[in-house]
Amino acid sequence: MSAAASLSESQCAAFARVLDLLAERMAADEAALGDAFPYVTGPSGAWKTMPATRSAGYGPNGWDHGNWFCGFWIGLLLAAHVHSGDAALLGAARRRLDLIRPRAEDPNTHDIGFIFQSSAIPACHITGTRAYAELALRAAERLRARAVRTKAGSYVAAWGPLDDPRGRASSAIDTMANLPLLYWAAAETGDASFRDLGAAHARMTAGAFVRPDRSTYHAVEYDPESGVKRRGFTFQGAADESCWPRGQAWAIKGFAASAEADADAGFFALAEGLGRYFLARLDAGLVPYWDFDDPAIPAAPRDSSAAAIAASGFLDLARLSPDPARAAEWDARGLALLDALVRDYLVTEEDHRGILKHGCYSKPQGEGVDSAVLFGDFYFIEALVKLLHPGRFAPERPRRSSGRVA
Ligand code: GLY
Repeated sequence: MSAAASLSESQCAAFARVLDLLAERMAADEAALGDAFPYVTGPSGAWKTMPATRSAGYGPNGWDHGNWFCGFWIGLLLAAHVHSGDAALLGAARRRLDLIRPRAEDPNTHDIGFIFQSSAIPACHITGTRAYAELALRAAERLRARAVRTKAGSYVAAWGPLDDPRGRASSAIDTMANLPLLYWAAAETGDASFRDLGAAHARMTAGAFVRPDRSTYHAVEYDPESGVKRRGFTFQGAADESCWPRGQAWAIKGFAASAEADADAGFFALAEGLGRYFLARLDAGLVPYWDFDDPAIPAAPRDSSAAAIAASGFLDLARLSPDPARAAEWDARGLALLDALVRDYLVTEEDHRGILKHGCYSKPQGEGVDSAVLFGDFYFIEALVKLLHPGRFAPERPRRSSGRVA
């Protein structure tokens, strides 16, 4: 079922206005930013920036994610181009694809999926330029090279080079949302090893990260030989045993993508269970606090990005569901979150950049709290583009007709 089918006229108009705003803002910001890439807004509302080349790594203060945002900016330029037809936005995206090209060789992080699936894949889809597919394939090979083969199965290591024991043992829930790069590479090349690694990673994540109530851990440390989970913990959430809403939303997206790529009915059912957990923890405003279990609630910041990512995931579930009634239900849930974001979280002030207010990058690290955050803007816009310009931004693969049931 197409989510677009159930859009009302007023939703269409409201969502189109957001995409108009995006096109305006991208043109203005692009002219001001030079080669720097924005990632979160600071207290003044202005973008904070960093170069595309800043890789991730372990430093004196622990793990530093580096610039995993740069592809999202390019994706937003491309989405704005799809909506407006403005050729200058496409030109800007092409220029910036050259700036991120060296990151396709980056061996340090699972976030290579985020960087290239949000930029090179839509760029290839929109322009037909083969070089962008080659770039995304190079990145997919790097992501596949992060496989850790254990006695219990394989996972994609999250943080740091594989010859660092911390990197080798690390797994994060965010990896689930990096798997689409592997699934795209499998479809593009016919090489099933990309898909098989994604599915293997999803199976280990289902076993090690998902609690009986369908909440998730943010991170897991594995024994890289046996594959046994040593501990579940958090890096960006409130506590090891809390549920970090953005991680839950990444898991919804990633298990939906895994169900689409692998036709594993267990992945689809799990994505639905994760989605139901997310919905059950929301209050009337439909945008979660940054952590569902922060003891400071209600005096705690929200994370609009978690709602945006979950909304995008719910639209994916609507498209994938074999049951029309459940498809309509996921469609309605996704649209309700998008309506709430448009109504209550849209940036309206000229000096506050970005599209969505009140995102939260990392509260424990004090970075991007109560800010526009680039990944929140990206998944919000990706959802709106799926609705208003279906099939124009990124490939939508047909479902495989046969498969396994977990
Ligand atoms: N690194 C993924 C996140 O902050 O959600």
